[in-house]
Amino acid sequence: MAESMSGLHRSYRCAEVSKANIGEKVTMMGWVAKSRNKGGIVFTDLRDRSGILQVIFEEKDCGAENFEKAASLRSEFTIAVTGVITARSGAANENLATGDIELRAESIRILSESDVLPFPIEENSKTKEELRLKYRYLDLRRPDIQKKIITRSKITSAVRSFLDSEGFLEIETPILGKSTPEGARDYLVPSRVHPGKFYALPQSPQLFKQLLMCSGYDRYYQIAKCFRDEDLRADRQPEFTQIDMELSFVDIDDVIDVNERLLQKVFKDVAGIDITLPLPRMSWQEAMDRFGSDKPDTRFGMELVDISDEVKDCGFGVFANCVKEGGTVRGINVKGQAEMPRKKIDALTDMAKGSGAKGLAYMALLPDGTVKSSFSKFLTEEEIAAISKKMAGEPGDLLLFVSDKKKLVWNVLGQLRCEIAKQLELIDPDRYDLLWVVDFPLLEWSDEEERYKATHHPFTMPYLEDWAMVDEKPGEVRAKAYDIVINGYEAGGGSVRIHMDDVQEKMFEVLGITKEQAYDRFGFLLDAFKYGVPPHAGLAFGLDRLVMLLTKTDNIREVIAFPKVKDASDLMNNAPDYVDDAQLDELYIKTEVPEE
Ligand code: AMO
Ligand code: AMP
Repeated sequence: MAESMSGLHRSYRCAEVSKANIGEKVTMMGWVAKSRNKGGIVFTDLRDRSGILQVIFEEKDCGAENFEKAASLRSEFTIAVTGVITARSGAANENLATGDIELRAESIRILSESDVLPFPIEENSKTKEELRLKYRYLDLRRPDIQKKIITRSKITSAVRSFLDSEGFLEIETPILGKSTPEGARDYLVPSRVHPGKFYALPQSPQLFKQLLMCSGYDRYYQIAKCFRDEDLRADRQPEFTQIDMELSFVDIDDVIDVNERLLQKVFKDVAGIDITLPLPRMSWQEAMDRFGSDKPDTRFGMELVDISDEVKDCGFGVFANCVKEGGTVRGINVKGQAEMPRKKIDALTDMAKGSGAKGLAYMALLPDGTVKSSFSKFLTEEEIAAISKKMAGEPGDLLLFVSDKKKLVWNVLGQLRCEIAKQLELIDPDRYDLLWVVDFPLLEWSDEEERYKATHHPFTMPYLEDWAMVDEKPGEVRAKAYDIVINGYEAGGGSVRIHMDDVQEKMFEVLGITKEQAYDRFGFLLDAFKYGVPPHAGLAFGLDRLVMLLTKTDNIREVIAFPKVKDASDLMNNAPDYVDDAQLDELYIKTEVPEE
């Protein structure tokens, strides 16, 4: 039977008491983590979000009625216990922060009982994630998840305090809005008052924050919910949170400076990690050439090497023809893995093919000086030696190659090196590599749409010294854009925005957006720019990704209280769901779902 807590006041959380409290009379409340009755004495582990405290019930301290209640305790009952903190009577428990004390109970109230749980509340749960997400409110009781959620709160608190001290204003922008130019699919919300019209949920507060700059709020920030209907991955959610900011009268270095100091504070306050500033900067071109990725994981080597010159005239048609047709041949050197079993190489080949490669060629430099390879029989000894030299190959190394168009080769080898590093455990889990990737190309060719698209978004400023060649070589114009990369994750990104109307007009032209289309979509922004727009720039961090990095998980669902799964549904409340016909009628909406 549940009892009221009236008249009681919780003195501390469970793990907020220590030896310093010995002798103190306290009232503690929480959940029963476990309770065992050892005949005449009941040991109960009381748990809350701070940790665990051992409670001892003996009839001589608490009387018969209370002892009977204690003897009836089961897991996850919530209770209130009043008693005295004493030194541990038994051996101290070194695994517990409160391992050298205990609470000698004088009275207990059972505040609520609990049914048998669908899974145990334990650290490093072995329960399947689907079941845990169905009962997320129970999963959230687990200490390791609680630590992550608490870290998340510490991060936003550190961010707010830093940005406040730097003169930023926290300003909210609307959730019901118009499509923003971030490039993913929008989530739409039908309007009842305007039948047939829809709001779009923001993919980011991009346009509003630029308007705030026009309005004179020269340093803005927001912990902003963003919505993108895109395919989910381990580091992506349909709704996620940005630490979003914008600054006026600034250029790249100003934005980078304030943001690396922000990161320095967050890492120090939240994880006690010292970060040395300034952070390194790497051009997009260098990142792609060396790591095959615009978010390079620099915690290990295995960098890409271009052997196109070495194989352009060789007898292996796959390579020679590829170079002749304007492609490239590049490789990575997997140190000391010459004797990697064939099965493993085949698995890597399948992975490469999964990313679009036509194959994965290998050359194993065996310790005895001989070479085992899928293509060396087509090469001369000189050619083999030249490749090996270019790759800094030594006896014992395994060289892996992909030939194709440059973009594809980068992508495949970039993924492969990360996968191999993971498999071979080459990465120090305590290491944090932070760097800025800068000088992105402004425009990216889209094979699908057969036109150039903005790499970041259409308001990103080009380097004006490159801008003159936009008609001849659009792909070579660099953008004033920057990403912050941490351990191979894109933790944030931003750019200097275009505030010059001639540049903006030209940009729309290059993107194939007509004046009418531009006005239709962001006319309010273009109009705002007519009335005195300050030069401005900004950036947004993915908060969820920062939390993932600082809590060392590669599953984004672990750092969001109520996450969605791969098909964008919520396993706990079954969202999205059907609605009443009456609701649809009000919106003049009829659905017609094809039967599959
Ligand atoms: P961008 O689109 O790069 O920039 O987003 C900024 C950061 O948000 C995070 N992020 C995500 N995190 C989880 N799930 C997702 N689906 C997801 N998508 C993005 C990433 C990313 O670096 N308005 C610009 C910022 C600016 O220019 O100021 C923007 O939204 O960590
Ligand atoms: P094949 O001539 O197709 O039998 O291929 C010989 C070897 O070259 C095999 O190991 C293939 O996986 C590899 N290979 C084929 N195409 C490519 C490519 N585009 N890049 C790298 N290796 C390839």
